[in-house]
Amino acid sequence: MDTRKSFFVDVSAAAPRPQNMWPSIVVPKEAIDLEIERLLDAPRPADGRRASLIVHPEASEPGLGLAPGIDVTINVLRPGEQTLNLRKNSNMVEICISGSGLATVAGRATRMQKWDVWNTPSMQVHSYRNDGDEPWVRLSYSNAPLLEKLEVHYVEQFEGDTPPADAGTSRPQVDRAAVARARDLAAREQITPEGAWLLGYEWLIDIDVLESKSLHWPWAKVSEYLPSVEDLGRGYNGRRLFVLYNPATERRIGTTHSFFATISCSPPNNHHVPHRHSSSAINYYLRGRGYSKVSGERLDWKAGDIILSAPGWAMHSHHSGDESTSALTVQDHPLQIAMESLIWQERLQEPIIALGSQGGFESNRAMLSAAEQGAVAR
Ligand SMILES: [Fe+2]
Repeated sequence: MDTRKSFFVDVSAAAPRPQNMWPSIVVPKEAIDLEIERLLDAPRPADGRRASLIVHPEASEPGLGLAPGIDVTINVLRPGEQTLNLRKNSNMVEICISGSGLATVAGRATRMQKWDVWNTPSMQVHSYRNDGDEPWVRLSYSNAPLLEKLEVHYVEQFEGDTPPADAGTSRPQVDRAAVARARDLAAREQITPEGAWLLGYEWLIDIDVLESKSLHWPWAKVSEYLPSVEDLGRGYNGRRLFVLYNPATERRIGTTHSFFATISCSPPNNHHVPHRHSSSAINYYLRGRGYSKVSGERLDWKAGDIILSAPGWAMHSHHSGDESTSALTVQDHPLQIAMESLIWQERLQEPIIALGSQGGFESNRAMLSAAEQGAVAR
């Protein structure tokens, strides 16, 4: 046996692999509506979960998605139906697109109505119940494709309160007053003036906890704020949106630890200059119409369409048509900040920046407000 050949790939002087940039695609509202009807008409599945993944033609198993690291699932419940409990280590952003129902996460039920958005943290038991009299439809976005490719996607579905894997287990009760925390006894030594440290093993298994909660962004409240971004001065060169911010993501400005979700509101005929980022973006249009230019190609969209609007690192710009336009955008931005892989180029004449480890970009908001203040003073 030639062991050298079995274990090694010679990459000396190998050129970087050109990345397969998935083409941008529009999934039209009409196709989504037909799929919702099909799911509603099908016999009730054993676990109560009527669901369909929206899969990009370039996606490959395992981990089918609409972007390489993001899946989008259409979930439907008929009136009176409910799902089994689920526990999984992927996280989700969800949006109700019609009907209403109860989403229960970690024992707390919240009523979700049209265009309400919420996050479902990793490993929190969750279920859904349609207690209304019309179909409840929601879109859920998750990082399952990435976990599937890493072969570490943990999923349990069950009835009752206790996940089967937890049955018969218990945590040892420790009297903190009597016994020191093992981590406090472990090594914690800075060994170079520049900041290289040594830490003992307990630092790996006893991580500081930052509470991760399911949060709810009701459309009734979010929509109150949207005129303030739509009304920003005509020359504003940022994006007219709000991040649905979950403080557990801290400086990574996410809605979950993987994704941010934003809700935008652009006036008619609003045009962006092209930009690009290594995060992938998926837009769901709530209202309005317009087009995007992605890698030089024009894609037209309208309310109810879902578009892979920015395949990672594709140059893109979005343009509203003759009416006000709102979109939910989901991007794997916090994940990439955590990996120090989030590269961004806000304007072509400016350099590529690794956001989070190099100073970021400025919009012209300060100049606009100075001009407005000047106008007031005059
Ligand atoms: Fe973008």
